[in-house]
Amino acid sequence: MTFNLTEEQEAVREAARDFAQRELLPGVIERDNEQRFPAEQIKMMSDLGFMGMMVDPKYGGGGMDTVSYVLAMEEISKVDASASVCMSVNNSLVCWGVEKYGTEEQKEEYLTQLASGQKIGAFCLSEPEAGSDATSQRTTAEDKGDYYLVNGTKNWITNGNSAGIYLVIAQTDRTRRHKGINALIVDRDSTGLVVGKKEDKLGIRGSDTHSIMLTDVIVPKKNRIGEDGFGFNFAMNTLNGGRIGIAAQALGIASGALELSLKYAKERKAFGTEIANHQGIQFKLAEMATKVDAARLMVLRAAQLKDAGKDFAHASAMAKLYASEIAMETTVDAVQIHGGYGFVKEFHVERLMRDAKITQIYEGTSEIQKIVIARKLLK
Ligand code: CAA
Repeated sequence: MTFNLTEEQEAVREAARDFAQRELLPGVIERDNEQRFPAEQIKMMSDLGFMGMMVDPKYGGGGMDTVSYVLAMEEISKVDASASVCMSVNNSLVCWGVEKYGTEEQKEEYLTQLASGQKIGAFCLSEPEAGSDATSQRTTAEDKGDYYLVNGTKNWITNGNSAGIYLVIAQTDRTRRHKGINALIVDRDSTGLVVGKKEDKLGIRGSDTHSIMLTDVIVPKKNRIGEDGFGFNFAMNTLNGGRIGIAAQALGIASGALELSLKYAKERKAFGTEIANHQGIQFKLAEMATKVDAARLMVLRAAQLKDAGKDFAHASAMAKLYASEIAMETTVDAVQIHGGYGFVKEFHVERLMRDAKITQIYEGTSEIQKIVIARKLLK
C-alpha cells in the first residue's frame, strides 16, 4: 500500500481546492444562515465533473478512482460541507449503486444524467421508524405484475428537493424480512411523489434535507435494481462505499478547522506574543494535526482497497468512525483556540463544529460502524 499520489490525483486535489476557495467560500456563511442550497455551485461542480467522478466515461463520468474522489471530497468539505454531502450522495451512493448493480438500460437512461449532474440523485432508505434498524422498512412496494405500487414515507433525505432521481428502498414481502426488500429507481415527476418540508438543521444547513411521501406511486419493474429481494443487500453494499465519502467529508471538516486554527494562532496576539508561541495552543494544534493525519491515512486506505477490488467494508466503517469522531473533537478545539472569535459566524469554525456532528450520524451512526467493525472482528 502506497500513499504517494499520482500527478492526476494531485491535479484533482488542486482543482477541487481552487474551486472550493474561489466559488464556495464566498457566500458560505450566508447560505448557512439562510439554509440555502448551493444550486449554482453544484451546477459548476457538475460542469467540472465533480458529480460523477468515478463513473465510466461511456456513461458521461470522469472515470476516476476512489482516491481522487476522496481528495476532492476533503478539499470541498473544508469549505462547504453542505455542497460536499450533495456531491457524496450523488457519487458514492446513487451513481455507484446504479453503475455497479443496474441494468444497461438503467445506466443509459439514469446514470448518464446523474454522472453529468443534469439530474441529482437521492438515496431513500431512512424512515421515521427505520434509521439504524434499516431492515424495519415500512414503505411498501407491492408487486402488481409489471410494476410496483409504492406507499410510505422516507425521512432526512439528502438532496430531497433538488433530486431528479430517487433510489427508494421498500418492502415487497414482509415474510421474507430483509430478503423481501427491493431498491427502485423512481423519477421525480412520478405521480404520487411529494417532497415534504425542508428540515431546519443544526449543521449542513445549506444541504437540502426533506421527507419524501410516496402515495400509490407506480414504478415499472424495469426500474428495480438487481433481482427481486436484493434491495437490502444493495443498500448495505452501497453504503459501504458511501461511508468512504462521508469519512472524507469528516476529514475535510477537521482539516479545514486545523488550517483555520494554524492561521489564527500565527496572527492573534496575547500576553505580548502570537498565541502560537504558547505551549497550551501548540499542544492542541499538535493533537489536531496528528488526528487529521491518522484519519487521512484511514480514508486513503479504504479508498485504495475499494480501487483494488478488495473487501473494504471494514476499512470504510473504521475510517468513518474515526474521521467523524475526530472531526467533532478538532472543531471543538478550533473554536477554543479562536476564543470569542470562534463563537461568531465570521470565523467559520463554529459552522465547521456544527457541520461535524452529522458525520457521526448519517450513513450509519458511530454505533452502527462499531457493529460493522465488531462483527468482522468476531467472525
Ligand atoms: N456490507 C454488506 N452487507 C451487509 C453489511 C455491510 N456492511 N451489513 C449487513 N449486511 C448484510 C448481511 O450480510 C445480511 O445479508 P445476507 O442475509 O445476504 O447474508 C443482511 O445485510 C442483513 O444483515 P444483518 O442480519 O446483520 O442485519 P441487521 O438488521 O442485524 O443489521 C445493520 C444490519 C448493519 C445494523 C444495518 O441495518 C445498518 O447498516 N444500519 C444502518 C443504516 C444506515 O447506514 N443508514 C443510513 C441512511 S442513508 C443516509 O444517511 C444517506 C444520506 O442521505 C446522507
